[in-house]
Formats: sequence, C-alpha cells, structure tokens
Amino acid sequence: MRIDVVTIFPEYLEPLNVSLVGKARARGQLDVRVHDLRSWTHDRHHTVDDTPYGGGPGMVMKPEPWGEALDHILTTGGDDGPEAAGERPVLVVPTPSGEPFTQELAVELSERPWLVFTPARYEGIDRRVIEEYGERLDVREVSIGDYVLAGGEAPVLVMVEAVARLLPGVLGNAESHRDDSFAPGAMADLLEGPVFTKPPEWRGRGIPEVLLSGHHGRIARWRRDQALARTSANRPDLIARCDPAALDKRDRATLAELGWQQGTDGRFGRPGEAVEE
Ligand code: ADE
Repeated sequence: MRIDVVTIFPEYLEPLNVSLVGKARARGQLDVRVHDLRSWTHDRHHTVDDTPYGGGPGMVMKPEPWGEALDHILTTGGDDGPEAAGERPVLVVPTPSGEPFTQELAVELSERPWLVFTPARYEGIDRRVIEEYGERLDVREVSIGDYVLAGGEAPVLVMVEAVARLLPGVLGNAESHRDDSFAPGAMADLLEGPVFTKPPEWRGRGIPEVLLSGHHGRIARWRRDQALARTSANRPDLIARCDPAALDKRDRATLAELGWQQGTDGRFGRPGEAVEE
C-alpha cells in the first residue's frame, strides 16, 4: 500500500518510523511518503493560510499550495506503484466535521492500494480543494472522535496505524485481529474483556481460577460474560443496538443479571432508560 501525507509539520509524522508501521515500511509492505506543504509555496514567508471570507476567527488554509501538492503527488511515483497501474487514491481529509472513523472504515481503507492524507491546521482547508479533487478522487472527510484537536496530524497517525495493522502480513499472528473489539463479526460487537499473563500471583492478586482450568468451553463462556459485562458498563449503546440473534441463552441470562431486559422486539434495554438509536 502507498500512503502520502501532506502537512506543514512533517516531523509530527516521525512516529510512522516506529513499531508496527515502521517495520511494515522497512519490509516494503507500506510505502509512506511525507510531504511538506510549504514546498509548494512561492513567497518568502512560505504562507499557507489567510483570513476567512465572511469574517470570523482563525485562518483558513489557502487552496493553491494544496492544489500544487496534490497534482504533484497524483502524477509521481515509481514504476511499480499504484499510480503506474492507473489506480486512483482515496483522499482522506481529517476534520472534526467528518464521518466517524470506525473499524469498518479502517477495513475499507485497508483494501485500497493508495491513500492520500491531508491533515489541516487552523480552521481547515479552503472548500474548493475538496470540491476540485472530489471530482477526480474518492474523498472521505473523517473525524476520529467528538473532540477538537489542534490539527489533523494526530488523526493521521491514528488512522494509518488502524489501517496498517490490517494489511496482510503486517501483524505477526494472522489471527490477532480476529477478536478485536469492533472487528466486524467479532464477539457480535462486544468489547474485549480483561487479559492476564504470568506471574500467577502479583501483589497478592491471583488469576481467575477458570483461566487455569484448561477447560476451553468454560474459558470461552467466562470470556464472553466478561465481554458482556464490560460492554454493558462502558458502551451500553452497543448492547442496546445488539442483534438479539447474535446472543445465546447464556448471553441473555448474563445480560438479565446485569440489569438488562428484553423488549417485545427482542432488543435489550434497561428499565427507565430511553434507548438511543
Ligand atoms: N482535526 C481536529 N480535530 C479532529 C478530529 N477529531 N478528527 C479528525 N481531524 C481533526
């Protein structure tokens, strides 16, 4: 997979040299190219922003450097990259106004050969850039959560890591993302429960007996109950949205113990609580 990132803070993307993503790059599984937006400015001060039309606080990123940067990126590469094969990239624009970044979107992006990220600073990029490239590329405006960061670079780190670990051969153990919380089909969209390793006793705290039993059926059941309890506590919205067909009799008994009641439509709710859709 090829990934291009255009930013005014190339050094912010240094973590892409480390750990899982760094190793994937070193192995040639990931071709990451970080570009300095200011290389496509032509004035002495390398200006990338200007005041907003219509007034208001903050500054807006000027369209010209983005246009030149993207035109350059779309027409350059090696002989064997996706650009040579005539592939068009997905343009991923991090913004708090975007669609939510989910595991499902990470999977979708991981299936594309080429992603171009345009992390913005200030109040964002002049809208005409999105319109212009929206005619030629698949543009996704994406938010990593309901909070406002100072810029899109941290969201790019988040998204690249979530996507890279899904690429074939990048995770050591091919099984390791099967049970991820939020993996499509994983534990019917429950959060993962707690995990333990050696030593068997630490500061007077032991390991849940069942995990030492060697009884695979009982261990699987315990893990599922833990997942239900954690999801119930931390993400009750996921329980309320849960497809009842994905739950067995024991799941329903566990949820009842956790205070959930099944409505006439089979969905779970808690007495006195409105169900959020
Ligand atoms: N830029 C600033 N905040 C952001 C967020 N929550 N998601 C994506 N990009 C952003």
